[in-house]
Order: sequence, then C-alpha cells, then structure tokens
Amino acid sequence: MESMLNNNEKREIKKKIEIKVLPPGPRAKEIVELDSKYLMTSTKSLPVVASRAEGCFVEDVDGNTFLDFAAGISVLNMGHVHPKITSAVESQLRKLWHFAGTDFYYREQVDAAKALGEITPGKFEKKVFFTNSGTESNEASIKVAKAHTKRQQFVGFIGGFHGRSQGALAFTASRPVHHKGFFPHMVGVEHVPFPNPYRNPFGIDGYENPDELVNRVIDYIEKWTFKTYVPPENVAGFLVEPIQGEGGYIVPPMNFFKELKKLADQYDQLIIMDEVQTGFGRTGKFFASEHFGIAPDIMSLAKAIASGIPMGATIARSDLDFPEPGLHSNTYGGNVLASVACVATINAMKEENAVKNSETQGKHLNKRLHELQEEFDFIGDVRGLGLMQAVDFVKDTKTREPATKLRDRIEYTSFENGLILLSTGLSAIRLIPPLNVTEGEIDQGIEALRKGIKAAL
Ligand SMILES: Cc1ncc(COP(=O)(O)O)c(C=O)c1O
Repeated sequence: MESMLNNNEKREIKKKIEIKVLPPGPRAKEIVELDSKYLMTSTKSLPVVASRAEGCFVEDVDGNTFLDFAAGISVLNMGHVHPKITSAVESQLRKLWHFAGTDFYYREQVDAAKALGEITPGKFEKKVFFTNSGTESNEASIKVAKAHTKRQQFVGFIGGFHGRSQGALAFTASRPVHHKGFFPHMVGVEHVPFPNPYRNPFGIDGYENPDELVNRVIDYIEKWTFKTYVPPENVAGFLVEPIQGEGGYIVPPMNFFKELKKLADQYDQLIIMDEVQTGFGRTGKFFASEHFGIAPDIMSLAKAIASGIPMGATIARSDLDFPEPGLHSNTYGGNVLASVACVATINAMKEENAVKNSETQGKHLNKRLHELQEEFDFIGDVRGLGLMQAVDFVKDTKTREPATKLRDRIEYTSFENGLILLSTGLSAIRLIPPLNVTEGEIDQGIEALRKGIKAAL
C-alpha cells in the first residue's frame, strides 16, 4: 500500500486554513459542472470539491485547505482518515469483504452488535439489525415496532427528519420540499408539535418556561391527538429525535422525554429514538438520550457508526426481536468492512476520550459562539449540546423572524474564508467538527466564521 502512494499523497495535510485560490477554483468548477451533467439533482449546498483529508482538514482539488466543521454531516466523528480505523479496515480488506450476513455467519458482525449493545443506553439485553443508512434504520425500527405491538399507527414530530424513503418520509416534517409530489406516504403517522424552546406554535419562551412548554406538548398529544382522532391503543409508538437535527438543532427541555415516556407507558407505546445525527459522542455523551435520562425501547443509528463506511443499525430491547424469520432482511447490512469499521470507531472513541472532548470543546465552542452573538445583533440564538452546536440568524431578535437569506450568504462567505459549514432548519448554521477537534482549531473556525459574517453584510 505504502509503495502505491505517490509523493503528493504522502504529503501531510496542513493543519490550518489556507485559501490559495478563491473557491471554487478552476478544477473545482470543472467537477461541479460534470457533477450536474452526470448526477441526479439532489441537495448539494457548497461547491467544495475534496481531494484528500485528515483530521479536521480537507484539501480541495485546487490546493486550498479548509477546516471542516460539517464532518460529512456528523459522520466523521473521529475525523477524516483516522489512522487506527484506517488500518483496521485496510487489514480486513485483505481477508474478507462481504459474506451476506443475512444468510451466513462471521464474527465481525457479532462483535459490532455486542459493542453497540454495550455503549447504548439501557441496562437490558439488546439485539441489533444492521442496515446501510439512517433512513433504512428507521424503516427497520418502524417494522420492529409494528411486528411487536401489532399496532399500525405512530406519532412523529413537526420539525423532525428521519429520511426520504416512503416510510421514513412519512415521519419527516422539516421542509415541505421533501414531500413535494411524493404523497401519499406510509399511512398512520400523526404529527404533533416538538417542544422547540425558541419557536413553537404556542408562543411560549421555552428557555424561560421549559415546564410550561413540555406540559403544552404533552397535553396536545393526550388531550387533542389521542382524545379526538388517534386511538392511543392503536399507536405502536413515537419516532423522535432527541435533538432535532435537520429541523435546526433544536434541544427540547430536559424533562421532555421523561414526560413523553410516562405518557407512552400508560398506553404500552414504544419510544423509538432516532439518534442517527446525535449519536456516537456528538452531544458530549455517547448518545443524546442519556442527557434526558431515558433508555429508548428502540434506537435508529447510522452516520458516525462506522466513520464513513456506509452502515446503520436498529438496536432494540431483546424482547422486541422479530417473532419469526423473514420478516425483515437486507443484503449489505452488517457488511464485514462496515462491522470492522464500527468496532474500530468505538474503540478509538474510548481510547481517545472523544466523548469527553466533545463535552469540553463543545463548551468552548458554545462560549465562542456566544461572543459572536454579543458582536452581531442578528444572531438570535446559540444552542446545542457538546459538539452539536448551531447559531440562528434572525431579522429581529424580538420577533425571532428567520433571516434565511443572510444565513445562506454566511454559509457561502465562510466557505470562501476556508470554513466548511452546513445550514439547518429555517435560519441556522450548524457547527459539527470532528469530536477530536482541538481548542485551537475551534478558534480558527470562529475566526473564519467571523470573517464570513463580515463578508456577507
Ligand atoms: C436524524 C436523522 N435521521 C435519519 C437520517 C437519514 O439518514 P441517511 O441519510 O443516512 O439515510 C438523517 C440524515 O440526515 C438524520 O439526521
């Protein structure tokens, strides 16, 4: 392998932002054009064209070095090309790639399932179904819940995002464009408000009155949804993100999930927690559910689970296992390389105290973002847990009217200043660096964001 690397590939990637040519440079432009010719229209948001990456830094095809605060949408929690995860996958590549874990056996898949059972919340026995993405994990979670409860209805939350296949899309409620021309989806999904402290349909300031907000949402479900049109005994469960990701990095009040669980328990309904974006240390705990003191019955996982080798998982209480073979399966789930990457990711996270670093650096990032909020009066809100942070841009801090266009401009001008960011929700930008980011790298990111903000005005 070593001998195959040419000098360019051996060269270390710089550990600081360096913009040599205003991005997108000529080579990047060429690839962006080819992309639009050969690939279907999807969701591309920035013309950054990567060629190599290491840790928190990405080199583009024109030789620019960017600081990556998008981390492949919270996939690269241990950073790009982590040496230990790379060498685990490299050595597996020479032994066995794929063996159809649907029908046959191999140790690596069992090891990955065991490792996931150990780090996920809940001291009960668990079982795993491996998938290839977050969407597919939610599909499996829905089927596990249906098969166990023999019930067909579910409750989802406005602002939630769970994927784009027709089952997962039935729960997704973060942007109308996701649904345009695609109705009807899976029937039996009712949406209720999420306790968004910053903007909610009740007009409650949830930072000042968190209990009132939680009570209103629980009342809404119990006194309106369940009393007027959704028979609670027909509801299999709730599919919910602990912190809404695509909906804008919305952290609900800390007692919300305990109250939701109390309600669900009254009717033997399950809590399915979608930790696709919040999982694997992102929020300063291994899983965000831990912040809220609940152990979900079923969890949907993906993204950071295998550091970028495509993988997802549904993990549930063992007693929720499918009652007979053949009810659910797939070809690639728990693929050998993905399973090895999953175990190597978890080991690296533990060895390098990545979860603790997410908590520590998350506090630093939050503090630095609050400084920007003092400086710029159009930053209405800074929110998040651990290294899952967001800034929300508003036209007026009193009305909290979203400043979507300004947000979009800042995302772009920050990119021109060497910082890769992703927007979320109506008017927020998320900051999700790899969990092993250093304080110095966060400070570099804040400087680039400050330059980006000033350039956007
Ligand atoms: C919370 C959540 N669930 C599900 C998904 C879908 O995951 P995937 O894109 O891997 O299918 C996402 C993707 O952003 C997500 O954030």
